Order: sequence, then C-alpha cells, then structure tokens
Amino acid sequence: MDEKRLQEFVGRAVDDVGAVLGGAMVVIGDKLGLYRAMVGEGPLTSRELAARTGTSERYVREWLSAQAARGYVSYDGERDGDAVFSLPEEHAVPLTDETSPACVIGAFEIALGSVYATDTIAERFRTGGGFPWGAQDQHVLGGCERFFRPGYLNHLTTDWIPALDGVEAALVAGARVADVGCGHGASTLLLACAYPASRVTGFDADPGSVEAARKRAAEAGLADRVTFEVASATTFGGAYDLVCFFDCLHDMGDPAGACAHVREHLAPGGTLMLIEPFAADDLPGNLTPVGAAYYGFSTLLCTPSSLSQDVGTALGAQAGESRLRSVVTDAGFAGLRRVAETPFNLVLEATCPNAA
Ligand SMILES: C[S@@+](CC[C@H](N)C(=O)[O-])C[C@H]1O[C@@H](n2cnc3c(N)ncnc32)[C@H](O)[C@@H]1O
Repeated sequence: MDEKRLQEFVGRAVDDVGAVLGGAMVVIGDKLGLYRAMVGEGPLTSRELAARTGTSERYVREWLSAQAARGYVSYDGERDGDAVFSLPEEHAVPLTDETSPACVIGAFEIALGSVYATDTIAERFRTGGGFPWGAQDQHVLGGCERFFRPGYLNHLTTDWIPALDGVEAALVAGARVADVGCGHGASTLLLACAYPASRVTGFDADPGSVEAARKRAAEAGLADRVTFEVASATTFGGAYDLVCFFDCLHDMGDPAGACAHVREHLAPGGTLMLIEPFAADDLPGNLTPVGAAYYGFSTLLCTPSSLSQDVGTALGAQAGESRLRSVVTDAGFAGLRRVAETPFNLVLEATCPNAA
C-alpha cells in the first residue's frame, strides 16, 4: 500500500464530495438569481445580496461561504466586520449567460436532476430493466434543454448546417425537416427561426416534452412554422429533405431501426444529420473530464432510457464515431462522415447509397 497515493486519493474524493454538493449550490444560485444579482456589482456582503434577491441572509451567508470554498465566487476580505464576496467576470458568463457557448448552468441542472434517480437506477442494476427518459425528474428534461441549447445556438446554423452537403441552400429555399427526439424543441425552434421558408416538425416519444416544445413555439411566435408531434423514431410519418437526431440516437432502444425508418422517410437526395455527445472510439480516449460527465449521464439517463424500449441496444453516450457508423450502415446508409465537432458534440452526416 502506497500511503501517499492513498492520501492523494482521499483528498481527491473529498474534493468530489464538495463537487457533488457544489452542484446543488449552483442550481440554488441560478434558481434564486444569486449569481445574476452579483454580475458586475463588485464585492457584496451576504446582507446586501439577500436584500437584492429577496432571500434570507443566514442562508445566503452559508451559500456564499460554500461557493467561495469551491472557488466559484471570490472572498474579498471584510467590510465593517462583514465578509464580502464577488463574482469574477470570467465566472459570470458560464453561470449566467445562456447565449454563450461557455454556459454551464444547464449541465448542473441536468446533473442534479439525474442523481434524484440514484436509488431507482441502483435497483435497475440488479434487474437489468430500463427507466424511460420521461420518468426522470423535471430538472433532467429542463436541464437537458438548457445544457445543449447554447451549443446549438452558437453552432447549428453557422457551422453545422453549412458543413452538410447542399443542405443550407435547400433550407433557405424551403425544405421539409424532421427533428426526431426533439425534447423541448431547442434545435427545432432554432431551425424554424433561421430558415423561414422551411417547414420543421419535431417528434418525441415523451408526451410531456412535446407539450413543453409546443409551449416554447407559441412563446417564440413560431407556432405557424413548426409542429410538434408525439411519435417514436421508428413510427413517425411524412417525407423529409433533412432528418436530424440531436443528442438522442444513443437514448433510443433501437437506433438501427430508427435509422432504417429514416431511410424510408427521406426524400431522394435527403440528408440524415446526427449530433451525438463527443466521444473517442476507445475507452482510454474517453477517460477525460468530459468523458466522466458523459459516462455518468449515460449510467443514470441514456442507458436506462434505451433499456426501457424495445430492442434495448443501449449504445451509451460514449459510443463514438465508429460504433455509430456501424449503426447507420447496418440501416442501409452508405457511410458516415464527421462534418464538425465541439468539446461536447460530434456532428455527423450519413450518406445515402444513391448519393453521388
Ligand atoms: C437527451 S434528450 C435530447 C433532447 C433534444 N434533442 C435536445 O437536444 O435537447 C433525448 C430525447 O430523446 C427522446 N427519445 C428517446 N427515445 C426515443 C425514441 N425511441 N423515439 C423518439 N424520441 C425518443 C427522449 O424523450 C428525449 O426527449
């Protein structure tokens, strides 16, 4: 036994305990507007922050101390005997700006929501059973929308669509688009907004998500351009020039069946775009901070979702490009090419057998 290694590991584990609790601190800070009230304000006492946010000073003081201990806010010493704290500008963007690709708020919300199902998922380890996406805590569904939306907002219509073969021109001219597994419709609404001549339909197997997506469309004034329907990836109807799976193919019970179904509903020359979590093809390549987060989400959310459905392929969130290529080629596509990537996503285009 190497005593030094043991002590290093205990130190690391204590840090992780702080991180787990820190997740709840971040969600509280977001929910109550504590971070937003600190943006650009310089050093504040707990009394000042509580007064600005209509919260209890005693709780705010404890929260500020916890956040300072984890380095999320700065402890700036004392003013008239009271501790003062500030939110550095570089932390304010990830914690408050949901238009920035650096935004991490949604990741905390989905992470915290995921752990609510700990006991349920532990039981599934014994039985091998699944747990549907829609049965997860609402923080998972809302957090997922908030986690992925900043990436879609910053990349979808500026980088990813233009990287596909001939798709941008078709969307500008007016095309039929299916966003399958659309969740709360973040990507669906961005597409509808960017390409007014196109007609976009979002499908999801979870009725609650479809209801939320319809509400978002009405709020955005896009209800005349976009439709949301409850349907699974192996049953949706219609003919499309572009079919998209945004961060959901690996959550499906039958991803190969879903891709085969897409082939039957793609118009000649149509495109299948896959957005999947960033992953390497091998396990060692995924032993990274992003991989740790995705394997955690995969254990609590993605694998149970797939196992709750027919076939139960359980690709996992770290399937990687090669495994995804087998899925789409088994479904009759000629190949799969990577057209873009971010630290969180792979962007892949499936090629049709009849493509030039
Ligand atoms: C991780 S969420 C992604 C949601 C959305 N695409 C996004 O990027 O924010 C996965 C979504 O896939 C949906 N889903 C899972 N299996 C499905 C299936 N077989 N058919 C249709 N939707 C499915 C879930 O209900 C959930 O909304």
